[in-house]
Parts: sequence; structure tokens; C-alpha cells
Amino acid sequence: MAAEPFAEGEIVLLLDRAGNRRLVSLRMGARAHGHKGYLEHDEIIGQREGVTLRATGGKVYVAFRPRLADYALEMPRKTAIVYPKDVGIILVWADIYPGATVVESGLGSGSLTLALLRAVGPTGQVIVYEQRADMIPAALTNLRRFSEPGTVPDEDADPPNLIVHNQDIYEGIAETGVDRMVLDLPEPWRVLPHALDALRSGAMLACYSPSIIQVQRTVEALEVTRGFGQIESLEVLYRPWQVKGQAVRPVQQMVSHTAFLTFARRLAARGRRRWDGVSDESYLADDDDMVLADELIGTSGALGVAADGDSDADAAASTSDDPDYC
Ligand SMILES: C[S@@+](CC[C@H](N)C(=O)[O-])C[C@H]1O[C@@H](n2cnc3c(N)ncnc32)[C@H](O)[C@@H]1O
Repeated sequence: MAAEPFAEGEIVLLLDRAGNRRLVSLRMGARAHGHKGYLEHDEIIGQREGVTLRATGGKVYVAFRPRLADYALEMPRKTAIVYPKDVGIILVWADIYPGATVVESGLGSGSLTLALLRAVGPTGQVIVYEQRADMIPAALTNLRRFSEPGTVPDEDADPPNLIVHNQDIYEGIAETGVDRMVLDLPEPWRVLPHALDALRSGAMLACYSPSIIQVQRTVEALEVTRGFGQIESLEVLYRPWQVKGQAVRPVQQMVSHTAFLTFARRLAARGRRRWDGVSDESYLADDDDMVLADELIGTSGALGVAADGDSDADAAASTSDDPDYC
């Protein structure tokens, strides 16, 4: 299918000699205008991927079907997006698999959602919580306009494996038995009380946070809940190189920072509960000295200052002192 010629309605990536990208939705009789001249869409329709085309002004382009990463970088955006370098590791490290039920928040411009939808496939489901109603239509347009290589997007229909809740995820999560959760919002630690209930045991949580302060607060909150293990924070560095004659070196300008990623895995133990003050007695039996999650998660004060003022000790207890903790 992907080897078929370009058809009307497909989105095509035009690359110029300098590597500049441009997306074009093919329409019979339309023109793709550049700085100097234009390309007739009719010249692209019916051609095979990789065809070289000359615009009326003489500029040369190559036409490909866009990779998902090309599409995400070029689609209109109203928010910061998760960049492909981070999307890649989220998919692998959070182990997003075909058939998985994934809860995501927020929708933003839909960059991460696109990749999650592809990864879970037609038998999976991505359920997105987005609190701002005004963000949703533009993101849905981005999702509808993308289609897999060699297929024409249905711009009138949402992806069938997508559900969008126009809700504040800090207020709660309706779903249970969730396999994976991916958060790109300012205060991921405020989702943890709900994530404890929503995620099945063994499920993965991934948090994307631009600031290391957010990471610290998230990790401390994860530890305090005692419902998560295999906690890991990392940063992905992407450094492209120029290979041109004798000038073989890293490119001079690069994106130096996007965000940090924190991953955690839901333990079978129920963990501490904050929202109704009820704790799992069997799980708490041996460690009454631990502060309750209520006292740390979601408080507006600095996380790490526990009720007894000894947060480091509590954090240590939650990791090394607990034989059941991984
Ligand atoms: C940085 S954007 C997400 C970008 C998105 N990951 C992408 O790749 O396009 C953050 C989004 O989270 C939403 N958001 C922030 N807090 C939220 C909350 N408590 N519940 C639901 N959505 C929230 C914002 O409205 C915004 O659309």
C-alpha cells in the first residue's frame, strides 16, 4: 500500500535542498506556493514517493509521505508539544503496546496523542483528559489530518481508538484497569491519588516535565504513595551531526533542552490514599511511622517537608527499608 502513487487527499512532505520541511494536502488543481514560484499539486498526484519536482521558479523539492515525526513538527500548534526525541523514549520506556488502554493528559496540540494512537493500534484505546475546551478542536483537526502512509485521512472523523474528556484530571479519573498513563501537565503529582485507583498493578506511568523541580516533586510524591516502584528519571539528549566534506562535527545550533521524563510502575500494593483518608491497613501495618500520603501529595507547600519534618528519612524508608519495594 505504501508503495502506491500519491493520491488526492494525502498529505505530502516537500523537502527542499536545505532540508526545510513543508506539508501539503494534495488537491486536484491546487498549487503549493513557495518563495519563488509554485508546484502544481497535479504534478505530485500519481507520482511515487521520493519523486523530485521543480517549482515554476526553478527550486527543486523531493516529495515523501511524512513520517509521524515530520507531521508532528509541522502541524499547527497552540501549545508546546512533546518532541519526537522524547516521544520515542516514552513509547519504548513506558512500553506502549498494541491493544493497551492508555490515559493521557493533557491533549495540547496532539503530538504525543498521535504517537500513542499509532502504538496502541486499532485494538487499543487512548483516553485523553484535557481541561481547556478551546484547545480540543485544533488538536482534533491535527489528529484527523494524519493518516498512515499510503492512506487518505478522513478529516470528518476522529480516530476510532480515541476518547477525549474535557475534564481536569486533578479532579479524578473515571477509568480503571488502565495499562499505561502519560502525563504532560504542570503538576503530575496531583494526579497520583487518582492514578493509584486507575492503573492496574504492573501498569506504567510516564511524566514529562520541563523543570527538574517538577521531577523532584513528582518522584517524592511517587515514593510517598508507596504504590509505585521502578521509579526512574532521565533526560534524552539529541545531538545531530553535520557531515559535509571535512566539516564533520555536531551542528552548531541544537535544541538543548525539552523536558525530563519520569517513569514508574504500579505495584500490586494498593498504596496510600489521600482523597478519602482511607488507608490500606494491611499495607500500612508494618510502617506506621511513615507519613500519610495526605500530608505530602497535593499540598501547596514545598513537598519534602513532611508533617514530622523528616522527609529524607521517609523517602529513604520508602525505598531501601521496605523489602517489598523495588
Ligand atoms: C504542554 S500541553 C500538552 C502538549 C501535548 N503533550 C502535545 O504533545 O501536544 C499541556 C496541556 O495540558 C492541559 N492541562 C493542564 N492541566 C490540566 C489538567 N489538570 N487536566 C487536564 N488537562 C490539563 C493544558 O490545557 C494543555 O493543553
